[in-house]
Amino acid sequence: MERFARLDGDGICALFELGEGVPALLHLGAPVSDNPDSIRAATSRGLHENEPDVLSRPDLLPVEGSGFLGTPAIELLRGGLAMPLDFTLERSVNEGTVLEFRLGDKGSGVTLTLRWEAVSEGVMTMSARLLNSGSASFGIARLASLALPLPGWADHATRYAGRWAGEMREDTGPIERGAVSSDSRGGRPGFDGGNWLLAHEQSLCAKTGQVLGMHLAWSGDHISLLERNDDGAMQVQMGARIDHGEVILEPGESFETPPVCLGFSEKGRNGLANRFAAYMRHNVLPDRAEWPARRVHLNSWEALGFDMDEASLKRLASDAAALGIERFVIDDGWFHGRRNDRTSLGDWTADEGLFPDGLGPLADHVIGLGMDVGIWVEPEMISPDSDLYRANPDWCIHQHGVERATQRNQLVLDLTISEAAEHVFARLNTLLSLHPIAYMKWDHNRPLFPRAGKGIAQTEALYALLDRLRVAHPKVEFESCASGGGRIDYGILSRAHRVWPSDNNDPVERLRIMEAWGQFLPPEVLGSHVGPSLNPVTGRSTDMDFRAKVALFGHMGIETDPAAMDERERAVLAVHIAHYKGWRNVLHSGAMHQLDMDGEGAFGRIAVAADGARALVLIARADLAVDHLARPVRLAGLDDAATYKISLLEPWPHKASQYVGRGFDWRAGIELTGRFLQSSGVAIPLVHPETAWLLGIEKQ
Ligand code: DGJ
Repeated sequence: MERFARLDGDGICALFELGEGVPALLHLGAPVSDNPDSIRAATSRGLHENEPDVLSRPDLLPVEGSGFLGTPAIELLRGGLAMPLDFTLERSVNEGTVLEFRLGDKGSGVTLTLRWEAVSEGVMTMSARLLNSGSASFGIARLASLALPLPGWADHATRYAGRWAGEMREDTGPIERGAVSSDSRGGRPGFDGGNWLLAHEQSLCAKTGQVLGMHLAWSGDHISLLERNDDGAMQVQMGARIDHGEVILEPGESFETPPVCLGFSEKGRNGLANRFAAYMRHNVLPDRAEWPARRVHLNSWEALGFDMDEASLKRLASDAAALGIERFVIDDGWFHGRRNDRTSLGDWTADEGLFPDGLGPLADHVIGLGMDVGIWVEPEMISPDSDLYRANPDWCIHQHGVERATQRNQLVLDLTISEAAEHVFARLNTLLSLHPIAYMKWDHNRPLFPRAGKGIAQTEALYALLDRLRVAHPKVEFESCASGGGRIDYGILSRAHRVWPSDNNDPVERLRIMEAWGQFLPPEVLGSHVGPSLNPVTGRSTDMDFRAKVALFGHMGIETDPAAMDERERAVLAVHIAHYKGWRNVLHSGAMHQLDMDGEGAFGRIAVAADGARALVLIARADLAVDHLARPVRLAGLDDAATYKISLLEPWPHKASQYVGRGFDWRAGIELTGRFLQSSGVAIPLVHPETAWLLGIEKQ
């Protein structure tokens, strides 16, 4: 057998040392062509006085029993006891972009294949397949999709933690001794953000620094571990979390983990974000190349809530169309008996009282106004007060003898019961067949409890249901929502056209939330809505100009009633909707770069068109700046040698516009080189709280 194996991707490379046991990782990161023996020498060390006598190298499958004292990547149970594991390398196969290591433990009858694939620029995926090659069954207690010994330079991490309406709060710092795990336990990734991680050098910033990004592409529960032992060795593990007894392998059976997606960049956070965005666009998002322009939504939720009927929705649709809205989404409240959040999940037919002639007249009205129709559903749930539950009380996930605890007054529909899955498919299929529905917002408003050992099977059943509907209705776009960002991952995004990043539409909060999601997701999949003022989550009131500018940097929508706005607000909103339409090509197909800003309350992003001819900048401030002389904003992603015309798109934020330098025509545009814009920058008034500017940039 070869002594080394390597996997080369575009802009990324991994080098392994092969021996009798589990392959060791010698290098992961920038492409290198050095002699592997020299790399081995450069990465080796001698034994110290207090460690196992055989030097261990950082390998891809830490197990208990070998002298490794950290968290093992695999734990199997037989007869209630942990199985001793001792893997040897049986085969290493490199087929171009795929590298596979087959490991076997003959004594235990276990075969494990680790698969690494170089997928797109700077991005690899890793997964594991476990086969019971013996003659007795065993259970899986833990199996990481990836156990990664971190390179020495990646000694800092950015972890994510969040909550409902406050997703993806970043926590950056050195990787400390000990183990930090952020496993999820609600049958979905949850608001915790443990399925996203950056490992990087200390000096990482927007434009520079080496960084590894990792994500588990799975919509169920995860394990996520960051660990540093007492000698300083660091590892990351990610995988699907498995409840005790949930996965038992009989002889001949196998279990395949969901993939971890790993990205690498030497060009800081922006380099990594753009590599993930390209990977998403070409390898994950369903039929992305054929997507029409991302239409401006009006969603009824924060406009009407449950206070809807045919007449009020028709009126809302007419007001929406007058602003230039392109899609009218009927959110929660339209189906049989649903007047509040206490009833009816499962009864997916139009409410007879609210829509005496069904949804047809409303759909006709919306389409007559030049918009298309979207509709909200929450198919994985069942209300105890529903016809479905009364007819099938055992179709919820439950445990015998244990009270059926609700959240938002609802239970989880057990999709592993084939009749239940069939029922939902039939109802949704009818809905999509009867009406010209272009878009389905698929919500999921409570975690699984109890999981009853069904977390994995329920996730697989969800995928099967969505896949079946997509085959039956290939033109319908799906949005995945889980009370906002409770279930965002590349697994669901291989079946959906967008996600709902947060229930929090307050622009002050959204600036941070969108920037954090933007590290891993391209802007066209991030729903971004103008909500009402007062904001229903935070109670904060904000100016329409600020709300609209912030909402424009994603997949824009409106979630407030135009009838509740004054004339000026409607006019300001309409102009921004027009800006969005004019710039969405740039926003949704090119590169996005975060800008280095002055202080924590300031945010800046530039979207540069794929051909480099146009760019749009959002700069915004949530709080009051420390200095009145805000630091000039230095742009990114431009061509140093080119000249650009840069203008401030109107309307301008009211207070801040007093401080624009006099005597220059910022409306018509100022000409500057890419070099100046990126090295010195432009001084735009950005000292006042809740202020945002849009800068339009055209290459000359
Ligand atoms: C939670 C979602 O995140 C909201 O946007 C809305 O659709 C409500 N559910 C409706 O119940």
